[in-house]
Amino acid sequence: MNVPDIIIAVDGFSATGKSTFAKMVAKEFDFLYLDSGAMYRGVTLFAMENGLIAKDGTIDEAALKVVIDTLDLHFRNEEGKTLLYLGERCIETEIRTLAVSSYVSPVSAIAFVRAYVDAKLRAFSEGGRVIMDGRDIGTTVFPNAELKVFMVADEKVRAQRRYDEMVEKGDTPVFEDIVKNLAERDYIDSHRETSPLRQPEDAYVMDNTHMTLHEELVWCLGVIQGKFLLYEAPSLTW
Ligand code: DC
Repeated sequence: MNVPDIIIAVDGFSATGKSTFAKMVAKEFDFLYLDSGAMYRGVTLFAMENGLIAKDGTIDEAALKVVIDTLDLHFRNEEGKTLLYLGERCIETEIRTLAVSSYVSPVSAIAFVRAYVDAKLRAFSEGGRVIMDGRDIGTTVFPNAELKVFMVADEKVRAQRRYDEMVEKGDTPVFEDIVKNLAERDYIDSHRETSPLRQPEDAYVMDNTHMTLHEELVWCLGVIQGKFLLYEAPSLTW
């Protein structure tokens, strides 16, 4: 199907399957996929590795502010995967640990961190035909995105998915730790002052608690076909 050159903004709470959905749509329609959460994770990893976050979680905001604009965080496409780099170093694995997950929400609540990430995301998207997932894509980064999706899912299902994902990567997570981390992040992400997580008024809401990936794709096609009044019935490769 000929999906127009649009920007698709995908927002929602942690572990609602935003990135899986966005990657699948990107592959199916040949869109650029950008993971905005990875950028916040990259800033957090940098801060942790450079002693800017104390063990008790205190962030040295003044020091981070001095260096933030020198951070060379960018995505590279390798074998169909979009990977995050800090300079020449691929940090895709390091940014997905529970340690980074436990500090990333406070870091992402800092206004100058958000300004840095927003500017990068807009620059990366200049060519258009982009699908980006996060917490404020449809409200702040691309308020004029042609299509906005807001994803929700049952809490236990979300935690189980994140647990399975980590086990698959060889980690040995504690289920309760994940439940706690998701609840904490949801709270901070939706209560912070700058660009809190909100459902955009014009978003299409998808509750994927009981949906398969294929059903999500079919749902997305239906929305696109209806919204852009595409005459031809969309076809899928799977
Ligand atoms: O999607 P994720 O779990 O990788 O995101 C990590 C954190 O980054 C999340 O807890 C909140 C923050 N984030 C944000 O504040 N705004 C975004 N657009 C994306 C992520």
